[in-house]
Amino acid sequence: MEFTEVLKGRRSIRKYSDKPVTKEEIEKIIELTRFAPTWKNSQTARFYVILNPELKNQIAEKGTCDFSKNKLNIQGAPALVVQTTVDGISGYNPDGTFTTSKGTHWQSFDAGIACQTFCLTAYDRGFGTLIMGIFDEEKIRTILNIPETESISALIALGYADGTPNAPKRKEVSDIMQSF
Ligand SMILES: Cc1cc2nc3c(=O)[nH]c(=O)nc-3n(C[C@H](O)[C@H](O)[C@H](O)COP(=O)(O)O)c2cc1C
Repeated sequence: MEFTEVLKGRRSIRKYSDKPVTKEEIEKIIELTRFAPTWKNSQTARFYVILNPELKNQIAEKGTCDFSKNKLNIQGAPALVVQTTVDGISGYNPDGTFTTSKGTHWQSFDAGIACQTFCLTAYDRGFGTLIMGIFDEEKIRTILNIPETESISALIALGYADGTPNAPKRKEVSDIMQSF
C-alpha cells in the first residue's frame, strides 16, 4: 500500500468480521513494529497476544472498568494485543534518576510510537485495529500474569474490518502549525 494511503486510510475499527487472525500474522506485524525508534534504542515495548476467546472474554468482562463500549470492542474482535512497557528504562539514567525534567514521559512517548507503528503496519497488511486507553490495569495484570516490572500502555483490538468507518474530522494545518 502506498504510504500516504496507509496514513490516511487507517481508522479505528469497532466492528470486525468473524474471519480469524493467526498468531503468525500478528508475529509478522510485531516483527516490523520492532523498527520503531525508541529512547536510546531501549526497546521497552512488549506485546501480549490473546487469541484464546475465553481469555479475551475474561479481559473484556473484568478489565474494562465497566466501560461497556470497550467490553464490546474486545468481545467483537478476533484478537487482542495488550501492549506493555518495561518500566524505569526509557527516560532514565543507569543510576535510576530521570535524564530530563519530563520524568516518566519518555516511556509513554516510546509506547505511543510503537503502538502507532503496530497499527499502521497492521493496516498495511490488511487488518483493522483499535487502540483502547480505558482499561483496568491491575485486573488485566492478574489475568495475564504480567510482571510488576511492566506497566500496561494500551490495549489494541485487531481483526478484519467489517466496513469502512468515516474519518473523524481533523484540524486544519493552519490550526496546528506556526511558522517563524
Ligand atoms: C491513546 C488512545 C486511546 C484511545 N482509547 C480509546 C478507547 O478506549 N475506546 C475507543 O473506542 N477508542 C479509543 N481510541 C480511538 C480514538 O477515539 C480514535 O483514534 C479517534 O477518534 C480518531 O479516529 P481514527 O482512529 O479512526 O482516525 C483511542 C485512541 C488513542 C490514540
